[in-house]
Amino acid sequence: MKTFKRALPVLILALSASVASAGEVEVLHWWTSGGEAKSVSVLKQKIEGQGNTWKDFAVAGGGGESAMTVLKTRAVSGNPPSAAQIKGHDIQEWGKLGFLTDLSDVADAEHWDQVLPEVVTKVMKYDGNYVAVPVNVHRVNWLWVNPDVLKKSGAKVPTTLDEFFIAAEKVKAAGFVPLAHGGQPWQDITLFEAVALAVLGAEDYQKAFVDLDMDVLSGDKMTEVFVQFNKMRDYIDPQYRGRSWNAATLMVIDGQAAMQIMGDWAKGEFAAAGKVPGKDYLCLAAPGTEGQFTYNIDSFAFFKLSDEENRKAQKQLARTILDKDFQEIFNLNKGSIPVRLDMDMSKFDQCALDSMATFRSTSTNGELVPSVSQGLATTSYVQAAIFDVVTNFFNAKSPDPQQAAGKLARAVKSAI
Ligand code: GAL
Repeated sequence: MKTFKRALPVLILALSASVASAGEVEVLHWWTSGGEAKSVSVLKQKIEGQGNTWKDFAVAGGGGESAMTVLKTRAVSGNPPSAAQIKGHDIQEWGKLGFLTDLSDVADAEHWDQVLPEVVTKVMKYDGNYVAVPVNVHRVNWLWVNPDVLKKSGAKVPTTLDEFFIAAEKVKAAGFVPLAHGGQPWQDITLFEAVALAVLGAEDYQKAFVDLDMDVLSGDKMTEVFVQFNKMRDYIDPQYRGRSWNAATLMVIDGQAAMQIMGDWAKGEFAAAGKVPGKDYLCLAAPGTEGQFTYNIDSFAFFKLSDEENRKAQKQLARTILDKDFQEIFNLNKGSIPVRLDMDMSKFDQCALDSMATFRSTSTNGELVPSVSQGLATTSYVQAAIFDVVTNFFNAKSPDPQQAAGKLARAVKSAI
């Protein structure tokens, strides 16, 4: 009894300390597919392990269109979450509106400027200060292959667009779906930007979608992009409308389809299904884009909060996202590569090692380009204009490639 009495004040102190440090972090994201949910649960566990409460704010829908709509309503009504999955140019737009909080103290203490590549840090800062934290680097220009289906079709693994169409023809003749594709605009643009990179090359891709150069946007090479993009339609099954990206990946996993052109979040689905790269499936650069890297950087932007405890918990979240242990487990599940440059990569598979090597080499040789479909290339206004033209073209009855290039330039011009 005596010991208990003596221990009581200590116990009360310890309890109140843990209560005092506990806050709530509410995180908005659209990671709801198998691989994605597994990845985000790693963050939840870490936060709960710190004694904080995780409030999940998941809004389904790859590409995040629905999530952004919900977020706007919440933020405008003065009740933002602690952090939200906001990427690329959108970070600047939210920063300009005055919603985001300055994370400089955490960034300085954790040396973010030293451990992150510059291509990443410049996206995360508004007005010179960190307002967002990067989670990973996704490569978007990938081709995912079911080798069994290619074998059964007598087709070879394609590395160029010409080879892709030869293989696709054989797969179709053998009764399989050559290209698994979903029916959402951002998925159309994912396919379009892969074809654009192959046809235009990195320099003209950059001129078209980053510099918004009207000559390249409306030029002959852009017409050729639309010609090749249009040919892809012949190899997609008629049920693609409304299909999600992960349902398309499942078609490759199940052997209904031979290939998918999609970012490496698709690898998260293969991994969640227990599939082994190099055996059950292959990862290759999208046809004609070997040695090039289209990047997508997932990040969380941090909102201004009024509650002191929640602000503390929010800073712990910021620190945790770039913690080496979290970076490793999260990215192993997500299919992406860690965003820190000083990571031990020994647990990662060949796809991730290839991605990391290409990310590093392209950082200095001009072959690294931002993804249009993922909001890294240009503002949300210009992006919406590009989405419109490309998706209307892809779903039209008799699309005209030359007209589409002209429309693209005009649409971009009016959105600048
Ligand atoms: C992207 C996001 C990826 C992936 C994908 C599909 O926008 O950056 O992490 O999850 O959507 O949901």
